[in-house]
Amino acid sequence: MQVVNSDANLSKAERYRELSGQLAALLAGERSGLANAANLCALLYQVLPDLNWVGFYFLQGDELVLGPFQGKVACVRIAIGRGVCGTAAHRKETLVVPDVHAFPGHIACDDASASEIVVPLLQAGRLLGVLDLDSPRLARFDQEDAAGLEAAVGLLLQSSEFGRLVD
Ligand code: SME
Repeated sequence: MQVVNSDANLSKAERYRELSGQLAALLAGERSGLANAANLCALLYQVLPDLNWVGFYFLQGDELVLGPFQGKVACVRIAIGRGVCGTAAHRKETLVVPDVHAFPGHIACDDASASEIVVPLLQAGRLLGVLDLDSPRLARFDQEDAAGLEAAVGLLLQSSEFGRLVD
């Protein structure tokens, strides 16, 4: 499938609107959570500027386990409550971290990362995992990114089954 790169001059809101149209087309007719999560992170990595890592962690027992991602190799298991991912999972809320070096317990997978956003995957209040994005730019993410990424995760969850990826 062809994904057209966004115009560099789009506002964040316009970029996320465009992205949700592309995502809806990408998810149409496919229920595999693994395939859909893999394509969502490829799409985000392709169309959002200033990212060095995008990926999923899925809940297995009391740990988050690495799923599909784009970027450098990453740590495989994160305990709930640890790092930015584990904290967002524990709180079941999106975390925007403008400077990862100022976040107590941040887990550094790529030295280039300066800021981060983590969006929990919640289905009827049940935690399935998290979506994590890293940027080499300080304060890259804000509430517009939180809203746009929560909407993208909502579409993914509506369209997919996660089966044994989540336990
Ligand atoms: N920085 C994350 C770990 C995952 S990597 O960024 C890919 C954290 O503190 O949870």
